[in-house]
Amino acid sequence: MDLKELEELYLKRQSCREFSDMVVPDEVITEICRVALLAPSAMDAQPWQLIAVTGEKRAEVLKGMQRMGMNKFASKASAIVVIASDKSGGLMKVGEIFKENEFVKNDLGILTAHLVLAAEAAGVGSCIIGWRDEERIREVLGLKKNVCIPEVVALGYPAEGYPVRPKKRKPFEEVFTLVK
Ligand SMILES: Cc1cc2nc3c(=O)[nH]c(=O)nc-3n(C[C@H](O)[C@H](O)[C@H](O)COP(=O)(O)O)c2cc1C
Repeated sequence: MDLKELEELYLKRQSCREFSDMVVPDEVITEICRVALLAPSAMDAQPWQLIAVTGEKRAEVLKGMQRMGMNKFASKASAIVVIASDKSGGLMKVGEIFKENEFVKNDLGILTAHLVLAAEAAGVGSCIIGWRDEERIREVLGLKKNVCIPEVVALGYPAEGYPVRPKKRKPFEEVFTLVK
């Protein structure tokens, strides 16, 4: 894949807020997660867990994602992928102390980016959802208190005719500087 093809993938990837009734097979969801988990992480700590919820539990997890009427579209998603980290991991603790930095959230953000791009490459629409009730999702999935969930991702086939929106990004000159 060259840069042009990668750009095309980036342009096609968008937050999908209208899913079709067609179910994405579990195998496809699993493959997307497997590929996304090739993401890099600080000190290769891989401080993450991906929990793909596709069955009955999906409805329960969804209740933890809808705040003030937001994110209702996610109810038609084939899968909700929970991006989680057990903060008690030994290697992460050492890393945080040494670098005096909170790497875990960066690592999970990078994983999330890999996930949505992998989904797009598989023809599956996605939407990152930051509005989530961590406590509720932990409860539904039986996760320990120290597990943090910075975001979840809704996955599903886009509804028929769902348009690819042009990207509205800040002017390149405003956000890029070349220093020699
Ligand atoms: C950390 C994060 C949290 C987000 N949370 C939500 C959300 O709760 N609901 C939603 O509809 N979109 C959410 N989005 C999607 C953004 O609104 C979207 O990425 C942005 O508007 C750019 O549009 P695009 O993804 O279509 O390129 C989130 C994106 C990120 C990166």
